[in-house]
Amino acid sequence: MRWSVYAFTLLLLAWSCGMDTTDTATAEALPDTVTYAAHVAPILWSNCMPCHRPGHAGPFPLITYRDAQRKAQMIKLATGKGYMPPWPADTSYRRFLGERALTRHEIALLARWADQGALPGDTSLLPPPPDLPEDPLLGEPDHVVWLPDSFHIPGDARDRFMIAKAPFQLERDTFLRAVAFVPGNRQLVHHMNAALINYPRGKKQDVFAGARYLNAEEIHGPEAFAALQLTNDDGSWPPLVPSVVNHLPGLDPLVLPDGLGGLHLKREGAFLLNTLHYGPSTRDTTDRSRFLLWFAPGPPERPLQELSLGSTHTPIDPPLHLEPGEVRSFHTQLTLRKPISVVTVNPHMHLLGKSFVAYAVTPARDTVPLVRIPEWDFKWQYAYTLPYLLPLPSGTTIHVVGIFDNTADNPHQPFRPPRAITGTDSRFMRTTDEMLQFFVTYVDQRPGDEKISLFTK
Ligand code: HEC
Repeated sequence: MRWSVYAFTLLLLAWSCGMDTTDTATAEALPDTVTYAAHVAPILWSNCMPCHRPGHAGPFPLITYRDAQRKAQMIKLATGKGYMPPWPADTSYRRFLGERALTRHEIALLARWADQGALPGDTSLLPPPPDLPEDPLLGEPDHVVWLPDSFHIPGDARDRFMIAKAPFQLERDTFLRAVAFVPGNRQLVHHMNAALINYPRGKKQDVFAGARYLNAEEIHGPEAFAALQLTNDDGSWPPLVPSVVNHLPGLDPLVLPDGLGGLHLKREGAFLLNTLHYGPSTRDTTDRSRFLLWFAPGPPERPLQELSLGSTHTPIDPPLHLEPGEVRSFHTQLTLRKPISVVTVNPHMHLLGKSFVAYAVTPARDTVPLVRIPEWDFKWQYAYTLPYLLPLPSGTTIHVVGIFDNTADNPHQPFRPPRAITGTDSRFMRTTDEMLQFFVTYVDQRPGDEKISLFTK
């Protein structure tokens, strides 16, 4: 099957907060008495509340003193282990926009606060909690694309991986400035990745035919595309842009500085949600999610392009295969044929991933760290945005090393007892197959790119 794949992709994710997580405060002495009003509230409001508030991903709110006091011990535990806030990338390896990571000093403050009995302090001195926006802060969208229907999530406490199509028809061809995915059910929609299909003019009578949800564990690949009626009317394949939207809880869409990014949008099109992951629910409920679209006035000066490494893209050495009980490291690489400036990096593995590192080696033999995930967690697969464009010269080799753990001790091990696992070579696969992939979005390099900040809010 041939998809003609456009080399550029619209942007993935961005984060609403800045980069204020330096460790300079580590050496600072802790106060004798730690209180909610004086120390804890500001930490929770900026690092936790974006997710821990009603209608968002966190399972309980962390807004008021009572909210926090009830969970004081759990907060100490979850932050002490580095499990919350979720930010798997190692901040000592490479910094990114909107990092959600606590300093050691902040973690120590939360622990002392819990140990001292979660004291309120003078809460009358506190300002009101920040008024966080419900939706991404880009103003009214120019167009909204809804998923076909409500999806019924049975209360059977199982994860679900769906494939779906969300078609649209606009007034005219245009350019996309930004696109956001807004889950209907923020507690259960965990992660989502969508491609964009652009139908050439006159090639598709009814873009809405075949729009529905399919269970990816029952049907995938060509069969699923047929059920979704994705092809042009003559059976040929329309152009598809991969990974146009990635969603994880608590993240806003990235808006690139003027002139960067931007994606051509045909009048007739569809989002193909090739993974829509619902977390487990113990009661029957529903979801109906939507895409918000903001148009750009014209074509971008420098469109965003994408490099793909690993499964289905570049050879993995040794070939991805794990015997039961095996922990093993795999490598893949790619050499640049032109100078680029990196915008985002996005590591991808499945349930057996244990750790991940990507770095670049320039022709002058400088090593440039790209991203390190010391403890891979399938649940928190971010695309990380660099604070400034990162120029890499032509001839640079990007290296990726992924370690996989197919032992029974891996908490994400899907099989008891473990089975032999092989890497998939299909783009659309089951989560229980393994993958080692790395995606880099970039723009063509220009002098001075290292001074171009990607912080637009
Ligand atoms: C990006 C969204 C997000 C942010 C930011 C976030 N949380 Fe969470 N938190 C979650 C989700 C989702 C869960 C549910 C458990 C899971 O999915 O892993 C959770 C679970 C928890 C739990 C329960 C852990 C358990 O063992 O069940 C605690 C405690 C917690 N969060 C505290 C915090 C604190 C404290 C912060 C800030 C320092 C924070 N969270 C920031 C999304 C977030």
